[in-house]
Amino acid sequence: MTQYLTGFGLGMRRPHYRSYIDGTAPVDFIEVISENFMIAGGKPLDTLLKARSNYSLALHGVSMSIGSADGLSDAYLIELRRLVDIMQPAVVSDHLCWTRIDQFNSHDLLPLPYTEEALDVVCRNIDLAQETLGRRMLLENPSSYIAFPGAMMEWEFLAEMTRRTGCGLLLDVNNIHVSAVNHGFLAADYLAGIPMGSVGQIHLAGHVQGEHLLIDTHDQPVPPQVWALYRTAMTLAGPVPTMIERDDNIPELAELCDELEVARGISAEAAGERIAA
Ligand SMILES: [Fe+2]
Repeated sequence: MTQYLTGFGLGMRRPHYRSYIDGTAPVDFIEVISENFMIAGGKPLDTLLKARSNYSLALHGVSMSIGSADGLSDAYLIELRRLVDIMQPAVVSDHLCWTRIDQFNSHDLLPLPYTEEALDVVCRNIDLAQETLGRRMLLENPSSYIAFPGAMMEWEFLAEMTRRTGCGLLLDVNNIHVSAVNHGFLAADYLAGIPMGSVGQIHLAGHVQGEHLLIDTHDQPVPPQVWALYRTAMTLAGPVPTMIERDDNIPELAELCDELEVARGISAEAAGERIAA
């Protein structure tokens, strides 16, 4: 399998393991949650090795806590490096958030204030992570529900973060839409402010309407507003490996593959628009 990501993929979810082990799932790459496989041996690693023999792989973490002011966990980085060495993934990513302080480990992706101070912390941590892993990382934009006074816009933070560290971006288009609606900014302004050359992967997902806010549940089909934003992103960015990220309420594999087919169509149309422009 190639050690770079191309085309269209899916998150590898348990109900569909057999199709990935057999290599019958019609996708170009798979993504798994890194922490589910950061263990020494056993069936999970065996399953992933078999799937990896059929597909390019993206390792997507949820616990690096890149925004932790007290630095990254050495033990976590060592375990992740071990998994990277075994799997030789095409991509290693995590989220722009924090999850840990002292010995407390939240399992939520908690928001960062987009201040200069936080930028220094995040860049220092990314430098260490990339050095330890011996490779460039991608950082994913979170969905957010609160904003901090005096902070820069998220896209300004991402642009400066990529400039300083050389890291790439995992652009979650659903998260942009959710945050844009919740905070009242234009998703188009967000995309215009992103260094598109740094985008190494795209996530597509769905959300639900809460009482006051959109909630990023990743348990629904990709809605029309997110498809529209994806079209804009692909027109601006050029071809970027894209996947459907369904975390809950997992449907049949065929249903996810149908959604992926829509993404393929939009990507092709966006390529046509770029040529015509
Ligand atoms: Fe995502």
